[in-house]
Amino acid sequence: MTAVATHGPGFGWHMPVAVRFGAGCVEALPGELGGRRVVVLGFTPATALGWRARWQALLGGQLIDWIEVDDGLSSLARCREIAAHVWPLLEREPDAVLLALGGGTTLDVAKVLRCRPLDGRFAGVERALRGEAAWPALALATLWMVPTTAGTGSEVTRWATVWDTDAQPPVKRSFDEPFGWAERAFVDPALTLSCPLAVTRDTALDALSHALESVWNRHANPFSDALALGAARRVLRALPAALRDPTDLGLRTELALAALEAGYAFSQTRTALAHALSYAVTLEQGLPHGLAVALWLPAAWELAVGCDARVDALLAQVFTPETATMDNAAAVSAQAARGAMMLRAWLQRLGVELDPTRLGITDAAQRIHAALGSPRGRNFVAAG
Ligand SMILES: [Fe+2]
Repeated sequence: MTAVATHGPGFGWHMPVAVRFGAGCVEALPGELGGRRVVVLGFTPATALGWRARWQALLGGQLIDWIEVDDGLSSLARCREIAAHVWPLLEREPDAVLLALGGGTTLDVAKVLRCRPLDGRFAGVERALRGEAAWPALALATLWMVPTTAGTGSEVTRWATVWDTDAQPPVKRSFDEPFGWAERAFVDPALTLSCPLAVTRDTALDALSHALESVWNRHANPFSDALALGAARRVLRALPAALRDPTDLGLRTELALAALEAGYAFSQTRTALAHALSYAVTLEQGLPHGLAVALWLPAAWELAVGCDARVDALLAQVFTPETATMDNAAAVSAQAARGAMMLRAWLQRLGVELDPTRLGITDAAQRIHAALGSPRGRNFVAAG
């Protein structure tokens, strides 16, 4: 029987984003605007895919402007540049919806850009993100999100990653505020059909990481556990098949659902050790986020085993659901430990590099030790 997270004074659940899920659900979006005008931040491929022309035709005069955002790193410099274009539009039409259509970068940039200081100056946002000053008085734009990848879960979290590439060396700044939640999200798996294979794999690995990081997390609760286990098993089942047949909408739907489940779970628990370790790898080597987190997943799994009966029970079930009925704690732990090996093999079959030394990382043990003391690392169930 699976142990549930019962430690601490119960739990809360906060999810203010109104979500619609399903293939084709984005078709309803123009109607749902109900006459409101909209500024679109659209990832670059939307133009070549014909989405921009289609939406322009559907929205007509409701579309104030369409601004392209390329899916590189979400940086402060990029936010500053786009703000110079977007904020004057929002100042003229404060009731307009800011609509983000794209991958994690586009969604994260939109979260920052919905925070328009009343004085219109980006410097106030910059200082707040750097932790140098409180947030200035803001006019918050209504934010709607339409993810085109199945992975980040950004549409259902209140945070964003913003890289401060003006600093030397560059620094990761976290936007994590109560005003970071979008009002609405449309999760349409049909939009992910155009997602290239490498991006499909890397974003699904990010979703798997969100699920597992939610399991081995001190802030887990029975809801997050159920969602995270479902998400992890769904990615493990659907991703290899989706990579063989990327045109299969059923498999794309499974991956989008997994990413949303994982998003819901880690929107409450936040991430943990593997994410804490990943950011330096992305910064040093330019490794995509999903691969940078996956690199550390087996090690984090191994460390997590044996710390908590709840975590062991869930990890054991990721690959072998039948262990849910086992009540021998030692046998469940042993099965959880075998799960780490199964994950390693599964990731290797997808071509994921799992040996840090092959990426030039020779101090993995020291990095893990240091990461356990970081804010995300302290969420990890095995952190001191
Ligand atoms: Fe992530």
